[in-house]
Amino acid sequence: MTSNRRINLVPTDNPVRRRLLQAGLGLAGLQALDPGVSAQGSGRLGFRAIAPSLADAVRVPPGYVAQVLLRWGDPVGHASGMPAFKPDGSNNSAEQALQAGMHHDGMSFFPIDGSSDHGLLAINHEYTDESLLHFQGGKEWGPQQALKSMQAVGASVIEVRREGRDWQVVRPSPYARRITLTTPCRIAGAAAGHVSMQTAQDPLGTTVLGTMMNCANGWTPWGTYLTCEENFQAYFGASTTLEPSTLRKRYGIGQASYPHFRVEPRFDLSKHPNEANRFGWVVEIDPFDPAAAPVKRTAMGRFRHEAAVPHAGADGRVAFYMSDDEPFEYLYKFVTATAPWPGGAAGNRNLLDDGTLFVARFGEGGTGVWLPLTQDVGPLTRANGFADQASVLIDARRAADLLGATPMDRPEGCAVDRTTHEVFIACTNNAERGRPGAKEGANPANPRAPNFFGHVLRLREERDAAGATGFTWRIFLLAGDATLEAAAFKGNVRGDAFGSPDNLFMDARGVLWIQTDMSGGAIGKGPYANLGNNQVLGADPATGEVRRFLTVPRGAEAAGCVLSPDCKTMFINVQHPGERQPSTWPDGGRPRSATVVVRRLDGGIVGT
Ligand code: FEO
Ligand code: CA
Ligand code: CA
Repeated sequence: MTSNRRINLVPTDNPVRRRLLQAGLGLAGLQALDPGVSAQGSGRLGFRAIAPSLADAVRVPPGYVAQVLLRWGDPVGHASGMPAFKPDGSNNSAEQALQAGMHHDGMSFFPIDGSSDHGLLAINHEYTDESLLHFQGGKEWGPQQALKSMQAVGASVIEVRREGRDWQVVRPSPYARRITLTTPCRIAGAAAGHVSMQTAQDPLGTTVLGTMMNCANGWTPWGTYLTCEENFQAYFGASTTLEPSTLRKRYGIGQASYPHFRVEPRFDLSKHPNEANRFGWVVEIDPFDPAAAPVKRTAMGRFRHEAAVPHAGADGRVAFYMSDDEPFEYLYKFVTATAPWPGGAAGNRNLLDDGTLFVARFGEGGTGVWLPLTQDVGPLTRANGFADQASVLIDARRAADLLGATPMDRPEGCAVDRTTHEVFIACTNNAERGRPGAKEGANPANPRAPNFFGHVLRLREERDAAGATGFTWRIFLLAGDATLEAAAFKGNVRGDAFGSPDNLFMDARGVLWIQTDMSGGAIGKGPYANLGNNQVLGADPATGEVRRFLTVPRGAEAAGCVLSPDCKTMFINVQHPGERQPSTWPDGGRPRSATVVVRRLDGGIVGT
């Protein structure tokens, strides 16, 4: 989701490269022009790059096919009911609670019995567009509509299976599940039960109703899904004037962009000031146990969580790389205290409650340090307002400020190369950097001021240890369009032009799949004119080559890319088609976010 998105709105190829391809020179010609690209190549990228597109369609390379699998409103396959989608938006809240939510975002695939043809997909539904969700565009808006929209966010778990060439949602399925903003979630870790987490509805501070603004995601080595609460501040408003609060101010809380607080008292800060402290967490879901409550893992800190991607370190522990998506916010990691235990999810029920949260400081010369967010270490003292570890976790942003973390350009997607142990981090963009009156100018890891197109960093831990406190880093690429004159727009991409890298996924072959999120209002305009709609690009970390693989419909962002373990199927989410662009995708009516399956017509490996 683009920052500051509001509701109630109705909602090239690089020409040099294209000429070379037309001239039959292909990649060899491109390499001749760019001595920085390995002459050998690594052989990871074999598909024909596609041109930019402004079509209201999903476009894929020749030899590939894209199939819509699960749209907003399609039944997830729960045995208790599979209500059909009503194209006029008249499904009620009970029906929505059994259907896929809106605005699919992060997603993970969990094989069943090791299969690449049968598994579970856990899918985030980041937010609602109220004007698309309801009958008559939500002209009437009250408690019923609020409840429907609370049932349209959160996550879905669906069972999927390949039958012949096509994939199907298995309906009914014992795994089919919706997790919404009304699903009881357990609060675990050091902040559980803290006085700041207690509310009238939950005096113990250990259970919260639901999750929302579930943006990107991650998974654990023990087979569970991590869904990340990002722009939770959008729900919280105040019916009376509030006393100033540094905690609320640091998280931008107080100006709701959704009207729910007017009908759902727990989102009214004047009545229930602590409810906002119970959002902004990483939430662990066991996709194989539909009866297990989702768990908010407070040890991983509270911020506008984007991704939580694991790295099994050489020290046996697991690091989770986590980003806080706002201009000038930080990159974090959480390191488990021990290695995972045998026994899958059942054996690791508490592993994410015990460990250390760190924030990154990127230094000069390609080095950096991880600074621990540990109470009573360094400046995180009682005198500075941190009386206990719970206070550090709930106010992680201010703790990171005091530690001197490096302000980044909207850190979003993270991915880990399991072979080289490198961590890739997408910084989407930051038009504010270096502007007169802005907080910050350029720094080594965020070298463009302003940064219109974003960049991708690569980082490697000392000794490849999850718990390392030092790392080295490099810039992988500066996104942009090499045909533009202005240095700020050019970037240094070896291949196809793009902007605003958001989600990242590293497949089993080591291809880094970059998904973009230019805002709908920017598409096709100004410096973004040559880029077309948002896209998915394959990048080769060994050579730096980038090729455009897929373009999404008008106004949509590309999100949630994940490949099956055999790399023969790509699942990808088309999020918010129609945002500030006219779209009727996928069925010619109301635009609907959807999960799409991409595979090769010959059944081969995607990307080769
Ligand atoms: Fe929900 Fe940062 O994108
Ligand atoms: Ca985004
Ligand atoms: Ca995102």
